[in-house]
Amino acid sequence: MKKIVLGLSVVALSTLFAADGAAVYKEKCFSCHGEKAVKPALNKSVVIAGWDAAKTIASMNGYKNDVGGPMKAIMKPIVSGMNDDEIAAVAATIASFK
Ligand code: HEC
Repeated sequence: MKKIVLGLSVVALSTLFAADGAAVYKEKCFSCHGEKAVKPALNKSVVIAGWDAAKTIASMNGYKNDVGGPMKAIMKPIVSGMNDDEIAAVAATIASFK
């Protein structure tokens, strides 16, 4: 019994610290990029579903620094409110969308 309780608290702790990519995606990206990222956001962006995580992370960090396409001003405030953990987690989630 003790072991089970211990195991549960470890799971709770790790979810507390590691950002949940799927949850971040739903909350911050879904409205524009769509279910499983298959929609061009606002009919403008390229489809990012299945993008390699490193590519998404580089692109998002670019937006933080005003690097991007003609509509980068839309992405900047979204990305600026995220920490590296959340960006990495959401990038992994997008990479899993195929
Ligand atoms: C308000 C709508 C909106 C939301 C919400 C949004 N995006 Fe975007 N996203 C866009 C638009 C518009 C572009 C194209 C911007 C440009 O011109 O560079 C874009 C571009 C991108 C690109 C680069 C694609 C390319 O064209 O090179 C990535 C990666 C991306 N978004 C990831 C995300 C992630 C991850 C989230 C959630 C954390 C998110 N976006 C939330 C609208 C949105």
